[in-house]
Amino acid sequence: MPTLALTEFKITHLNAPLGSEVTGLDASQAVAPEVILELKQALRDRHILIFKNQNLTDEQFLNFAFYFGSLFVPPDDIPVLASEPGVTPVVIPISNVDGGYTGTREIAFHADHHWTPYPSSGSLLYALEVPPEGGDTYWLNLNLAYETLDESTKQRIADLKLITYNPFLRDPNAPRSKYRLDKSIPLISPVFPHPLVRTHPESGKKILYLGISTEVEIVGVDPQEGAELIEQLREHLNQPRFYYQHKWSVGDIVYWDNQATLHYRQAFAPKYRRVMKRVSLAGSRPF
Ligand code: OGA
Ligand code: MN
Repeated sequence: MPTLALTEFKITHLNAPLGSEVTGLDASQAVAPEVILELKQALRDRHILIFKNQNLTDEQFLNFAFYFGSLFVPPDDIPVLASEPGVTPVVIPISNVDGGYTGTREIAFHADHHWTPYPSSGSLLYALEVPPEGGDTYWLNLNLAYETLDESTKQRIADLKLITYNPFLRDPNAPRSKYRLDKSIPLISPVFPHPLVRTHPESGKKILYLGISTEVEIVGVDPQEGAELIEQLREHLNQPRFYYQHKWSVGDIVYWDNQATLHYRQAFAPKYRRVMKRVSLAGSRPF
């Protein structure tokens, strides 16, 4: 480490079911190879990393993010957050002002890009302005959620495939269904079934790969039975013992493993500004 660093580089495990805090690292500068490797290992073990006190241009933010992978680019015909026909911005404004996309309402626990053929491996979210209250983000440990299922449920779901429907192809004002029961409504997009029990591509850990409220369907299972099973799994997922609640400070970057976690955002008052930027990294086909 450079001898002139003001604070020493340190990775500290949070007293929480996931997450480590990283201090004494300036992401605007080149990072030493052994530090990158330590960060990658910490992400595998802890699922989210919280970098404190950063101050970056977009270019510096991208350069830092690309140490961990290349840019996530969705297929042209599969819209995701911030997509305009055929293009998705590289650095995505996650903001309730100035043309940002995420408003001020609560955002239910989800994994990004779950409905795409190859969801992102992770995202880095960088806080520029934060509200004095509300707008916390929670991350949930999907490996722990899987491990704490009872044995008979684990066996029952072992080989199931789940379709997660693309919320960006839905009428935002229509009532949302959490499970596709009505088969008479025609499909409006290609669907990409993924394993309900996913194996992490690097750690090999099993995760329960299911969001809390996006519309889903288990392939080949009677709709009523599928809906009941999903409801039971979602009840299990939604427990404080699985998640960490992050209260943002300006200059935080949270890097989360999108293959091991869900995230949720609290609502906040529209009178406040919450301005963040996100970069998502390419992933692979879930197995
Ligand atoms: C996201 C997201 C939540 C937040 O950027 O993918 O869900 O707290 N953000 O802004
Ligand atoms: Mn998200």
